[in-house]
Amino acid sequence: MTARVFSGIQPTHGLHLGNYLGAIRQWVRLQDDGRYECIYCIVDQHALTTLQKREDMRAHTYEVAAALLACGIDPERAILFVQSQVPEHAMLHWVLGCVTPLGWLNRMVQFKEKAGKDREGAPLGLYAYPVLQAADILAYKAVLVPVGEDQKQHLELARDIAGAFNRKFGTDLFPLPEPLILPEAARIMSLRDGTRKMSKSDASDMSRINLTDDADTIALKIRRAKSDSTLGIWYDPETRPEASNLLTIYAALAERPRSEVEEEFRSASFSAFKARLTELAVTKLAPISARMRELLADRPMLDRVLARGAERARAIARPVVEEVYGAVGFLGAGGERERS
Ligand code: AMP
Ligand code: TRP
Repeated sequence: MTARVFSGIQPTHGLHLGNYLGAIRQWVRLQDDGRYECIYCIVDQHALTTLQKREDMRAHTYEVAAALLACGIDPERAILFVQSQVPEHAMLHWVLGCVTPLGWLNRMVQFKEKAGKDREGAPLGLYAYPVLQAADILAYKAVLVPVGEDQKQHLELARDIAGAFNRKFGTDLFPLPEPLILPEAARIMSLRDGTRKMSKSDASDMSRINLTDDADTIALKIRRAKSDSTLGIWYDPETRPEASNLLTIYAALAERPRSEVEEEFRSASFSAFKARLTELAVTKLAPISARMRELLADRPMLDRVLARGAERARAIARPVVEEVYGAVGFLGAGGERERS
């Protein structure tokens, strides 16, 4: 049997090189591997927990869908869909919420960070966020979940919730999901400060390469990227964070081991190295941004792809929720299930 993979990404504006190398590319690799059944979800219901502007939700959902397709997610081989189009996530969320002790949620670091000082004013949805995340995964009985390091705690909680459900209802309905945390290119740093993560929330657009940047913009950002005055390029994040970050980016884009790339540029000048990096980045990334623009210009096509993905996702999640409803004693869609 092929192992089922599930992962989710929030529909936010400004996907960048860090998202691509740290997350999206792993999704594409798992899809291309052929040994997995991959289910990828744009988690708009999670985004609602921190929504700033209502108009943004729709545009960002399309933007992330286009980015995933442009980066190589193939809706024929993977299931790509939007969370709110599959009601089973919200249905399962409720049931799981009823086996999750508050004490577990109180330990979640992300809630503390996002709620900030105003805990009393934070919405219930933000608190329940990791329960919905568990529902995302468990609605498909997925066992492998590729995520960034920061999601480890949520994944442990998802496992605990699956176990708590199984124990409470005396079943082995849910398999325990495992995080798949890939160390390589796990942290791409800012182009302006090699000690800070490349992030969409950085005020300076020069700090990141966006997936929507065209060739000229990519070239400009690399040319302006912070450098140091040491001759030669080598990896030493402590003393040369910027050079190290650019080497990491080069190796990740070239899909070559870092040590090999380091060997090649050990005596190169910063400007020569940057010229080569620009060439590589433009070759790899400009086609993605061009494809993204094409896809974004055709929303009806995106709607069709996502509707088909939602239909396929539902075909898996529906029977799981039915099974869950049966296990907890709900009558379910068929009613009277005991007697049939
Ligand atoms: P975010 O944009 O922070 O919601 O992250 C979406 C996904 O991209 C998560 O899986 C993150 O771990 C990953 N990610 C975000 N920023 C970076 C970065 N600078 N380097 C590597 N991965 C990142
Ligand atoms: N919380 C995840 C993040 O912010 C996104 C997410 C939602 C997710 N549901 C998921 C990731 C299920 C993996 C599995 O990155």
